[in-house]
Amino acid sequence: PKLLILNGPNLNLLGTRQPEVYGSETLQMVEEKCRDHGRSKGCEVYCYQSNHEGDLIDQIHNAKTAQDGIILNAGAYTHTSVALMDALFSVELPAIEVHLSNIHARESFRHQSYISRAVVGQICGFGSFGYVMAMDAMVAHLGSK
Ligand code: DQA
Repeated sequence: PKLLILNGPNLNLLGTRQPEVYGSETLQMVEEKCRDHGRSKGCEVYCYQSNHEGDLIDQIHNAKTAQDGIILNAGAYTHTSVALMDALFSVELPAIEVHLSNIHARESFRHQSYISRAVVGQICGFGSFGYVMAMDAMVAHLGSK
């Protein structure tokens, strides 16, 4: 299957951004990990990051015809963006929400996710391994349909 790995705002700064919360791996390292894992699972992996809400929405729209599933870490837009939620509903592709940190153990404003309403499930708190878990979950989900 073809998987879109989509990362939102500030995730381009991974590695130097609050490493005690988000880890010391850079986004490039995380994306490479996803590509490697994709190769071992027979997935075609396309990675994209943007700090702009509209860009992320465009990528979700493009995925409708180009991809089989979406793995999304929307960063802080998770907690604010009805537009990203609506985009996920519009394309009717299976999506899985990933967060590096355990958002439920953090400030209360991070406990609510608009994204969650539009996804198969959420993986949080496992650092970059969460993306690998999400890929396995997506392959299993697509295979079970
Ligand atoms: C995050 C959690 C969000 O609350 C935060 O705004 C981020 C990263 C995570 O991966 O843990 O930017 O999505």
